[in-house]
Amino acid sequence: MAQSRQRRIVLGITGGIAAYKAAELTRLLIKDGIDVQVVMTEAACGFITPATLQALSGKPVFTDLWDGRVADNMAHIALSRGADAIVIAPASADFMAKLANGLADDLLSTLCLARECPLLVAPAMNRQMWENKATQRNVALLERDGVNLLGPASGDQACGETGLGRMLEAAQIFEAINAQFAPKLLAGKQVLITAGPTFEALDPVRGITNRSSGKMGYAIARAALDAGAKVTLLSGPVHLEPPVGAHIERVESTEQMFAAVKKHVKAADIFIGVAAVADYRPARVSTQKIKKTDRDMPLQLIQNPDILAWVAAQPKAPFTVGFAAESQKLNEFADAKRRRKKVRLMVANLAQHAIGADDNEVTLLDDAGLHKLARAPKTEVARQIVAHIASLVTPRRKIRK
Ligand code: C5P
Repeated sequence: MAQSRQRRIVLGITGGIAAYKAAELTRLLIKDGIDVQVVMTEAACGFITPATLQALSGKPVFTDLWDGRVADNMAHIALSRGADAIVIAPASADFMAKLANGLADDLLSTLCLARECPLLVAPAMNRQMWENKATQRNVALLERDGVNLLGPASGDQACGETGLGRMLEAAQIFEAINAQFAPKLLAGKQVLITAGPTFEALDPVRGITNRSSGKMGYAIARAALDAGAKVTLLSGPVHLEPPVGAHIERVESTEQMFAAVKKHVKAADIFIGVAAVADYRPARVSTQKIKKTDRDMPLQLIQNPDILAWVAAQPKAPFTVGFAAESQKLNEFADAKRRRKKVRLMVANLAQHAIGADDNEVTLLDDAGLHKLARAPKTEVARQIVAHIASLVTPRRKIRK
């Protein structure tokens, strides 16, 4: 078979202490046979020298829009021409703000604006800078524009604080780049995903819900799209940007979610029930706001349908995946749930760690046993879950020697 073309990556480095990890990332990419063109901002050169990156990539490093080495002075076009991806690692808060707003006042930002290829961004900053509303607004804009955000991770920071904002490790970014190029594991598959909480109304203003943020379900939807699947996302009430490319339907109650699942499940090859569906709902829903009295108010709850178990029990059920959030005896309870609901794969996580958080630590339980995944951002965990599902749905044929 003909050797496939050598991959080309533009690695952009911006000003942050995590710039030292870009050296290791360059080494990993080069070792993997990838052609790496490094472009650094002026601030990045304050943290690590172009000479280091030049030695590791085996190519001159570019920092200047007016670099005379490009014959026609069109470095911003020439350097990314034919690139398979631009990867910004580390991406400072300032650089992300530029990207989100389409600014182009240096070589790297101009190159990003003039690109034709996917853009992967690995943020690295102090946790307060990451949490700042302006940064979060920029993150949402970038995601809406189809930019692929890698991390950040949570942990110790150079400033001495601990929290979200650390750049992913070089090896994790390397994996994410590979995932970008990975074969479309779910190409041609229809995937139906439920996400978020449900809201069970008591009266026109009150109701019962839970703390699910929808982040895990949305991340799975993103990962399934990246793997080439057609995705329908049935979402309970959450405040998240829907992944670009997914067909999204918003629901409120479990019964609405159940109706939407019934509508879409026949077309699905894979069903992934990530939603934290309410097991019970109020027996009576008042059409008027319930008035306060001077007595206690008993609340009667009735059972909701179990959507996951219903899907798994259909005669032509899709490959069915459930999520189990437990607060104790994780594997035991999750596996019992897997058997009871007759799902092919159960993703188990500790409720106190997973609900609402940005990262997660899960264990996959299937007929072959138990697979523990390392703690990582939900986007990373989602990629690995999707890869595992793909391996079960379309097991690779053995190659005859
Ligand atoms: O039994 P438990 O609620 O812990 O099971 C969790 C799994 O079951 C999740 O995949 C969730 O989406 C699904 N589920 C459901 N319908 C319910 C309750 C849970 O689909 N009524």
